[in-house]
Amino acid sequence: MRSVLIAAAALAAGVTTNAPATRAAGDLNLICSADVVICEMMQQMFQKDTGIQVNMVRLSSGETYAKIRAEARNPKTDVWWAGTGDPHLQAAFEGLTQEYKSPLLGELNNWAQKQAESSGYRTVGVYAGALGWGYNTDLFKQKGYKEPKCWADLLDSAFKGEIQMANPNSSGTAYTALATLVQIMGEDKAFDYLKSLNANISQYTKSGSAPVKAAARGETAIGIVFMHDAVAQTAEGFPVKAVAPCEGTGYEIGSMSIIKGARNLDNAKKWYDWALSAPVQSHMKDAKSFQLPSNAKAEIPKESPKFSEIKLIDYDFGTYGAPETRKKLLERWDKEIGANAN
Ligand code: G6P
Repeated sequence: MRSVLIAAAALAAGVTTNAPATRAAGDLNLICSADVVICEMMQQMFQKDTGIQVNMVRLSSGETYAKIRAEARNPKTDVWWAGTGDPHLQAAFEGLTQEYKSPLLGELNNWAQKQAESSGYRTVGVYAGALGWGYNTDLFKQKGYKEPKCWADLLDSAFKGEIQMANPNSSGTAYTALATLVQIMGEDKAFDYLKSLNANISQYTKSGSAPVKAAARGETAIGIVFMHDAVAQTAEGFPVKAVAPCEGTGYEIGSMSIIKGARNLDNAKKWYDWALSAPVQSHMKDAKSFQLPSNAKAEIPKESPKFSEIKLIDYDFGTYGAPETRKKLLERWDKEIGANAN
């Protein structure tokens, strides 16, 4: 909206815009699966740095996977930036994305390089974030709720209708939650747990961070989200507290991939190298995007949840990003949970 207003004001004042330079540098068609604020900031920064026009849409991770799969014969997207790693890996394993070895790979933390190696360099890690939840401290005080410290606490009947999480088909965050519970409890017990949790869930949202935005506004008490998304609401001034589950929790390796058959391949590579660079990743905190950056030289925001203080499981990305596992778990979720959702 702001850019539309600026462009309109420039036109009214008879000021020429940088359209000719932009046209010369060409276009980039980008799908962004992080929060819309960081998506727009990255779009603006890249346009300013390169003169390349970025046509960007924000879609959740699972939705993006489905879109690039549907468009495989006639790709309309060049780069898929951010969103959880599992659907990026699935796309890589299915040959929907293409190999690229950025000259910046050597600057990345091990976990980000591993993500690239395990996919045959068809995807790469751009950030990491741990799963947990955020709750509205004012609402908790008002209603006399006890802080849920563990996954098990979320089953308390006091929380009936008070919890939101996303739908794991559309949202990578919710798929991370599903895969995490399966890894902690085993598949059958995890589905038993999700069935009990379903009694407390008021809504399965499309996007992963929506539940904690609803908690921030007092529309729900608890949102199951990445901890940095809860911290972002606290930083916005909302009464939200982030929790790291006591039994342990999973994490995402937010990833980036170039789509196979990308029409603007040179610009896609330019974005890729740019987005992996330390200065760009150090800026992410300006959009209250508090993930751990993948470039080891990038500044870690002081607000970022500290991995050393969270009981992290050894999340098996190879297995849970594999097409057969993701497909099987989502089908079971649809049948046993989605079909009985409120
Ligand atoms: C938020 C988080 C990101 C995450 C993304 C996944 O934006 O800040 O770290 O990658 O959600 O979104 P999704 O809607 O697919 O759950």
